[in-house]
Amino acid sequence: MKKNVLLILLVIILFFTIVGCSVQKEKNDNANSNNKSVVLYFSATGTTKKIAERIARESKSDIIKIIPEEEYKKEDLNYNSDCRANREQNDSKARPKIKNKIDINKYDTIYLGYPIWWGTNPKIILTLLDTYDFTGKTIIPFCTSGGSGISGSVDDLRKYNSNLIINDGKRFSLSDSDEAIREFVGVNMNEEVKNIKAFINGKEYIINLEDNETVKSFINMLPVEFNMSELNGNEKYVYIPSSLPTNSSNPKHINSGDVMLYGDNCLVIFYKTFDTSYSYSKIGHINNLPDLGKESINVKIDK
Ligand SMILES: Cc1cc2nc3c(=O)[nH]c(=O)nc-3n(C[C@H](O)[C@H](O)[C@H](O)COP(=O)(O)O)c2cc1C
Repeated sequence: MKKNVLLILLVIILFFTIVGCSVQKEKNDNANSNNKSVVLYFSATGTTKKIAERIARESKSDIIKIIPEEEYKKEDLNYNSDCRANREQNDSKARPKIKNKIDINKYDTIYLGYPIWWGTNPKIILTLLDTYDFTGKTIIPFCTSGGSGISGSVDDLRKYNSNLIINDGKRFSLSDSDEAIREFVGVNMNEEVKNIKAFINGKEYIINLEDNETVKSFINMLPVEFNMSELNGNEKYVYIPSSLPTNSSNPKHINSGDVMLYGDNCLVIFYKTFDTSYSYSKIGHINNLPDLGKESINVKIDK
């Protein structure tokens, strides 16, 4: 009898241990499921991979490798010869195929890593931009190289698709410290950016920012300069070149100085206070904004 009770007790303990373990495992598996950022990288010889892994760790991002359908062998990368990589870089139409399917929909921020090949990004990065829709997402490039900087590739990527939000990015060496990686992640996560400057017809104002995804993406576009047109005697507006993520709602009341996004690409500065039935995504507010008059205005916005 005693034996039976002991056996039942053992079974109960075993049951709860197993259930407990699987709940814990589920927790671990889902640890990154709320992640909004991903490190997406291509690396032919493993250098960029090492930096990608460190950026993923510091930014608590998911990490996905861009795998070429045809892997680059040593001879494909011998840039002193007529190798495959050189031929691709010299062929404006080359779009090396990507083997893996990549789910970018759930991410707002993409750290995009690649080696520099002949001063720019490998062509497989263009295949990536052709294949997936990065509109409204913030792309933060990073690279490794023998010495070349990242700016040539960033210019090329911006020219390739001018609708995309692409930060200036950074070149890394393997010898770069964890602090350098943290700083890169911190700057690009817009930590501490609570306000930015707006120069309206040359006069400086402060925009106190909201904390939302619209603002994060907007900051990544900076610096910007626009001519903003007059509308209705109460607002100045401009259609910005890229769409931003939205969180629109009807504020019911507009205050003079409110900076809003109408739709996903119309930036509005209100200079009158009134009630509204329209919906906007809030960006921020300028204190003590004067009446901006009937003319269009020149606006520079910077951190
Ligand atoms: C085809 C080819 C072209 C390259 N062109 C450049 C270049 O223009 N400037 C540079 O500094 N490094 C250049 N490199 C060196 C790579 O950028 C560097 O080794 C990089 O760290 C490799 O990254 P990975 O190991 O992730 O592939 C080139 C390498 C290859 C294979």
